[in-house]
Amino acid sequence: MKIAVSGKGGAGKSTVSAQLVRCFTLNEMPVFAVDADPDANLGLVLGLDPDKLENLRPLIELQDVIEAKNAGGGTLVDLNPDVDDVLENYTLREGLLRFLKMGSVKQGGSACYCKENSFLNAVLTAMLFERSEPVVLDMSAGIEHLTRGTARGVKVMLVVVEPTRAGVATAKAVDRLSNDLKIEQVYFIGNKIRSDEDRAYLESSLPPERFAGMLPFSEQVLEKARRGEPLVSKLDDLLPGLEKIYEMVCRR
Ligand SMILES: Nc1ncnc2c1ncn2[C@@H]1O[C@H](COP(=O)(O)OP(=O)(O)OP(=O)(O)O)[C@@H](O)[C@H]1O
Ligand SMILES: [Mg+2]
Repeated sequence: MKIAVSGKGGAGKSTVSAQLVRCFTLNEMPVFAVDADPDANLGLVLGLDPDKLENLRPLIELQDVIEAKNAGGGTLVDLNPDVDDVLENYTLREGLLRFLKMGSVKQGGSACYCKENSFLNAVLTAMLFERSEPVVLDMSAGIEHLTRGTARGVKVMLVVVEPTRAGVATAKAVDRLSNDLKIEQVYFIGNKIRSDEDRAYLESSLPPERFAGMLPFSEQVLEKARRGEPLVSKLDDLLPGLEKIYEMVCRR
């Protein structure tokens, strides 16, 4: 199962991503967890070693590897290079979990970052199409790492949305982008719900049948965030809302 998680900044993407990743590892399934949000902190939320995280190079910065892969000239996408070694050597492992950082897609005036961006694309392509392990992509609202090609490999896009006007506006924008990329299953997840009004607000702002779940505002999550503690198990507070999603995405 290849899953992407998106939504407005602070909506709860990394929280939801981490809980999904844990669903796989607790079921003893290997999983790729991908930090695809330039200012994301998925690794910390997952409880990975801060020093190792600090030392893990984002894929976009692997200049030496990118140059070596591109030695024959042309673009990497055309060459369809073998990037399995990258998935072996530039991921942080913890038991069944493999974690990697994408880094920002480079866009710069006259400069061409074609090689770098093609490299990211090749690694995503390998993970989404060639590897059998589930993948959880923690993405920014822009979902800029996905192209028409790689988006075909994403089975489900989960859009995390808080009950605010800005949150809803971003969720609609992500939905449109996902549609443009022809991702078939796009579901919303309401997050930080404190009242029936919050729930009703979301259900009147977005098609109610497209919600995969609603998660309460959780003191348990807040407390962990305050202490800087990772989410290494499934949290009771979020479980009722996530159960349907678990059922949908992390079955064997
Ligand atoms: N259901 C919840 N209840 C209480 N707090 C929550 C809940 N979900 C997320 N949070 C808190 O909200 C903050 C933002 O959550 P998170 O980091 O998961 O969002 P994000 O969308 O990944 O943010 P960013 O865009 O910065 O990467 C965190 O402090 C997190 O602990
Ligand atoms: Mg995040």
